[in-house]
Amino acid sequence: MNDAGPITLAGYAAAARARLDPAVWDFIEGGAGDERTLAANLTAFEHVRLRPRVLTGLGLPHTKTEILGRVWAAPIGIAPLAYHTLAHPEGEVATARAGFPFVVSTFASRTLEDIAAAAAGPLWLQVYCFRDRAVTRRLVERAENAGFEALVLTADAPRLGRRVRDLRNGFRLPPGVVPANLTGTGFSSPSGHALAEFDAALDWSAVAWLRSISSLPVLVKGVLTGSDALRAMEAGAAGVVVSNHGGRQLDGAPATFDVLPEIAAALSGNGVVLIDGGIRRGADVLACLASGADAVLLGRPVLHGLATGGTGGVAGVLGVVTDELTETMLLTGTPSPQDARPELLGGTSSPQ
Ligand code: FNR
Repeated sequence: MNDAGPITLAGYAAAARARLDPAVWDFIEGGAGDERTLAANLTAFEHVRLRPRVLTGLGLPHTKTEILGRVWAAPIGIAPLAYHTLAHPEGEVATARAGFPFVVSTFASRTLEDIAAAAAGPLWLQVYCFRDRAVTRRLVERAENAGFEALVLTADAPRLGRRVRDLRNGFRLPPGVVPANLTGTGFSSPSGHALAEFDAALDWSAVAWLRSISSLPVLVKGVLTGSDALRAMEAGAAGVVVSNHGGRQLDGAPATFDVLPEIAAALSGNGVVLIDGGIRRGADVLACLASGADAVLLGRPVLHGLATGGTGGVAGVLGVVTDELTETMLLTGTPSPQDARPELLGGTSSPQ
């Protein structure tokens, strides 16, 4: 840590851990089952080796990236994470103020309208389809009215994963931490009840349904195979988020980075490809871009930043990764995110 805060994401994680209640820390950090997929997400990046091109004469790189018609300062956004007020009293409002592309969870702990009023960057809404479609519909309408720009349908959670740490801790949301956009729905309290209302029989028609109730583009989050990515596009999606929910749903699912090339190849440019899971360094971001992602989303590190320093901490986390990305691009001779190609990757250190 220096005066400006931690200088790596690991530093932010350590600072957050020191501040948070241990059961809250476990809720944020934990995964499903034996946490194999959680670990695999991180390990996948440890084996990446980047092959630099030298003496390119290209000068300083830029990180600007166009996603769904909007220019992002860097190909890095904020993944949907429930209950930011667990990390900071201002919750999602403080996160939005940091000004980065932000996917707001259905289980946000501040209202969509308050978040939109504070936001200094593009907002998307993450959607869980409840059995009571009227609840989801109302949420989508509110988001669209508040200026949200896209919907992200989470497809990997027909029910909540079995999170052993939470079961062991008997984890309950602390008083005052509530799903602020589900109040008055009849299942906002106790909040666990809302999780029981997930539609376990959801199918691809949910994409068309979302498009019928909204004019916003829809991305499908939780896609881990090329064939499902193609189905998402056939169903009317604008793209996919390659995700295993940060290892919190199907334990045993592959690391997202490992399946990214298959999905990028299947879509071959016909749809936005985002990825999340275990991205902790600028070099990880560049590896994802080289493997076919248009941009990445960060999950847990954002809550670490929020817990550590509110809006400044979130900006700090995203700033560290953006700076690392810029440096890695410079050192590898990659002038822009669009120039990151598979040839950048090679010489894996893993015993294959
Ligand atoms: C999540 N994630 C998640 N996903 C989603 O679609 N809706 C949600 O409400 C949540 N909530 C949530 C809470 C917490 C505490 C965590 C850690 C994760 C999953 C999230 O969007 C993302 O897929 C992973 O967090 C990405 O992995 P990393 O960056 O955390 O390794």
